[in-house]
This record gives sequence, C-alpha cells and structure tokens, in this order.
Amino acid sequence: MSLIENLNWRHAVKAYDSNKKVSEEQLNKIIEAARLAPTSSGLQPFKLLVVKDQAIKEKLAEGALNPECMRDCSHVLIFAAWDKYTAERIDSVYDFTTDQRELPRGRFDSYTTKLKEIYLNQPSEMNFAHAARQTYIALGLALAQAAELRVDSTPAEGFSNEVVDRVLNLQQYGLKSVSLMYIGYADAENDWIAPMKKVRVPKEEFVLEF
Ligand SMILES: Cc1cc2nc3c(=O)[nH]c(=O)nc-3n(C[C@H](O)[C@H](O)[C@H](O)COP(=O)(O)O)c2cc1C
Repeated sequence: MSLIENLNWRHAVKAYDSNKKVSEEQLNKIIEAARLAPTSSGLQPFKLLVVKDQAIKEKLAEGALNPECMRDCSHVLIFAAWDKYTAERIDSVYDFTTDQRELPRGRFDSYTTKLKEIYLNQPSEMNFAHAARQTYIALGLALAQAAELRVDSTPAEGFSNEVVDRVLNLQQYGLKSVSLMYIGYADAENDWIAPMKKVRVPKEEFVLEF
C-alpha cells in the first residue's frame, strides 16, 4: 500500500476494543518512526512515553476528553517535550552525536555556541513551545507508520496536561506533556465516526500557488 492509501485508510478512532492489543513488534515499529523524526538542529527535545499499564491509563482517563479511548486502547503514546533548554542538554546531544560519528567532541562548537546564544537568551516558555512543535512531526510519522501496519490510532490533544504530568511525575524528567496518540484496534460497533467520509478541503483550496 502506498503512503497515500495508508493515510486514506486511517481515521481518528473514537472507540477501541479493549481485548485487542498491539504486538511488541508493531509497537516497536511505531516507536521507531517517531524516533527517526527530524528535529530542529537534531536536538530531539522530547521523549516518547509508552503507557500500557491499565491502572495508569485509568488515572490518565480522569483528565481525558476521550476517557474511553484512554481506558480501552492498547497503548497510549505520549509526546513530552523538554521543559526548558539548557547548555547541558544541548552539549549532551552534540557530545552524543560526535561520539556516534567518531568525530572529536567540540566539532560543532561554533554551531552550538550560536544555538545557546539564541535559546538561552529567550524565555523558557518560548523554548518549550519550540520543543513542543517538534513533537508533532514525530506524531505524524507515528500515525503514518501505524496506518501502514493497519493499527488503529487517534492523535489527541484533548487531555489534561496537568493530570498527565502529575501522574507520570514528568517534572522529575524535566518534561511536559504535549500531545498523545492512542493505538489499538477499533471497536467497530462503537467507533461511530468510522463510516463517515474522510473530509479534507480540496486541493484547489488547500494550495495557494505563487
Ligand atoms: C494535534 C491533534 C489533536 C487532536 N485531538 C483530538 C482529541 O483530543 N480527540 C479526538 O477525538 N480527536 C482528536 N484529533 C483528531 C482530529 O479531530 C482528526 O484527526 C480530524 O478531525 C481529521 O479526521 P481523521 O484523522 O479521522 O482523518 C486530533 C488531531 C490532531 C492532529
């Protein structure tokens, strides 16, 4: 199936069959798609939190717009971004990168000095917003990978960041939740949106040519 066919196949599922679980192999492919997402300056300023524990999902459901999805899906994949940028975080990414490439540490010093000049002189909320934007690229790729595997999913911002951050104690990791993705297998009887046509603005409206 082509990417376009997969994107036409998927929809934001509203009800999951709690008896059907995503295999570890498929889960790992979805995680890998998110991990391979490009990020600004290659900082990868976010983590992917994988929740399958039912008791934790029940707690997270308290703040969810789709509590039944939270409870019944197979796994919840939560994208959580760095709460702030620091010199240590930037250096750590670039040290890892140079080590992986067998280059001397400091090879990218002139670039990281500029990054620090920019980021460390602007409010941490602005940097969190920058990190948060990166997560959506990973979310998109993970949605596409799930579709290719014929794993159902729902991208979601309809949840309480306060509840998620508290239940998973994200502050201790220097993270704040941004978006999430339910994955699993739809409950065909209750997924009321499934029979509805996929609606997008036509290309003529979507594209402005210059
Ligand atoms: C960033 C983002 C956040 C979303 N949040 C929710 C949500 O909280 N609950 C929900 O049911 N759907 C949510 N959706 C799903 C959208 O409503 C859905 O993708 C859109 O209506 C297009 O439909 P389709 O994905 O089925 O093609 C979200 C989608 C995105 C991309």
